[in-house]
Amino acid sequence: MATIEFLLNGTPKQCDVPPDTSILTLLRDHLGMTGTKEGCASGDCGACTVAIRNPSDVEACFQSINACITPAHQLNCRHLVTIEGLAQGNQLHPAQQAMVECHGSQCGFCTPGIVMSLFTLHTTQQRCPTPLTPERLEAVLGGNLCRCTGYRPIRDAALSMQSLPWQAPQWFDASLPAVSAPDPERVEENASLFAQPTTQDELTRVRRRYPNARLVAGATDLWLENTQRLVELDQLIDVSRVNELRQIEEATFQEQSGWWIGAGVTYTGNIVNASPIGDTPPVLLALDAWVELANADGSRQIPLSTFFIDYKKTALAADEVISRVFVPKLTDTATLRVWKLSKRREDDISAVLGAFCYHLEAGVMRDVRIAFGGMAATPKRALATEKALEGQPLSKTSFQAAQQALDDEFTPMSDVRGSQLYRQQAARNLLERLYLTLCAPNQEVMLHAYAH
Ligand SMILES: Cc1cc2nc3c(=O)[nH]c(=O)nc-3n(C[C@H](O)[C@H](O)[C@H](O)COP(=O)(O)OP(=O)(O)OC[C@H]3O[C@@H](n4cnc5c(N)ncnc54)[C@H](O)[C@@H]3O)c2cc1C
Ligand code: FES
Ligand code: FES
Repeated sequence: MATIEFLLNGTPKQCDVPPDTSILTLLRDHLGMTGTKEGCASGDCGACTVAIRNPSDVEACFQSINACITPAHQLNCRHLVTIEGLAQGNQLHPAQQAMVECHGSQCGFCTPGIVMSLFTLHTTQQRCPTPLTPERLEAVLGGNLCRCTGYRPIRDAALSMQSLPWQAPQWFDASLPAVSAPDPERVEENASLFAQPTTQDELTRVRRRYPNARLVAGATDLWLENTQRLVELDQLIDVSRVNELRQIEEATFQEQSGWWIGAGVTYTGNIVNASPIGDTPPVLLALDAWVELANADGSRQIPLSTFFIDYKKTALAADEVISRVFVPKLTDTATLRVWKLSKRREDDISAVLGAFCYHLEAGVMRDVRIAFGGMAATPKRALATEKALEGQPLSKTSFQAAQQALDDEFTPMSDVRGSQLYRQQAARNLLERLYLTLCAPNQEVMLHAYAH
């Protein structure tokens, strides 16, 4: 057990729960607050949406998160707002009132989650109003599935709630006295642990002391091991509050100018899960990125292409963390194109993702770097395909040779997202798309891919 101190709908709370407790379990099982629903328990449906904010950052707005895959211990020193906190007596929050007036709910199972996403939008609009474009509404509601109402009345509610009167309750900007985190170095080596270091030095020392602990950033990948495969995560080290890991720095490395991007900058856990269908790794491979691995003695840098060893196996040693990623800048003449194929437009994982970096010099392909996701056990450079295109003229024949090389160098697997044949064909088509795009540079070529 370890203690969490946070604000819950404006009221200070202290709870003792095991490290692998999610916010949803904390609410429903430990606190008896069942307004927040569990649908998928994997971050896909949004039924469990709650809002969270750092009360010590006066500029910060509330953000929607999925309670089912967020560790409860990440609530330390945060303000959590749940569906139970919105209405003040008989006075509904505008997000609730608008959902009633626009008939935005039928069975109601998705409704608390949708209302919480609208609450976050409403409070953000109150602080810094920006136009509610269709794209913005899509981003706000893209993580909330509704099976029976249909989205039109929900979007109507999002648009109309802004004009409803609302007086922020007193607790809205409540603050929390500073909490001193327990010193992880004083916890027994086998005891359960949720460490929240704030410096890289602290992080690497804790990492060395607990080599079996799992690192956690946003938890959107790691937590599924707990909710889907029932793996107990009794020792966790949270990297999300380490200051150095949240920096982006312009620099020269290996004689290339680029950026060092800290491993805690949003999106970065995408590398260490070594998922063959992760979205950023193929893009970073095509850009020839490097990763820096740090432990308590120092750090080493390796090309990302040598980081992925086999399915879910990486070059990371037991006492190391990724501290940052070096992304070289594209030269003036180089182009990067990335295409992702997935079954659903919102919130979906790739079947195949192709990243192509090159420059076209007097009609000849130069400095070609190509990487794919979904085509092998790891995200992978297409070295033979690159070789087939390097120094070749922009012609159908060159690209047909590249497609042949691609066929020869990859044997993708079949799974629910796509069969082997589909993936092979889709990757070939992405090469053809690149060719057609280069032939007609001012027109974006539409690719019709069907995930059967
Ligand atoms: C509904 C849903 C949809 C998704 N859609 C996509 C998608 O479209 N594309 C995609 O690529 N992914 C997708 N994912 C997977 C996941 O969101 C991404 O992989 C994400 O980048 C993980 O980041 P995180 O910060 O949440 O990582 P976590 O889950 O916190 O960590 C992931 C792994 O990295 C390790 N780790 C974290 N930080 C460090 C560090 N500094 N050093 C060493 N190891 C570290 C952890 O121990 C863990 O093994 C989806 C997940 C869900 C639940
Ligand atoms: S229960 Fe579906 S996203 Fe959390
Ligand atoms: S109202 Fe039934 S799922 Fe949305």
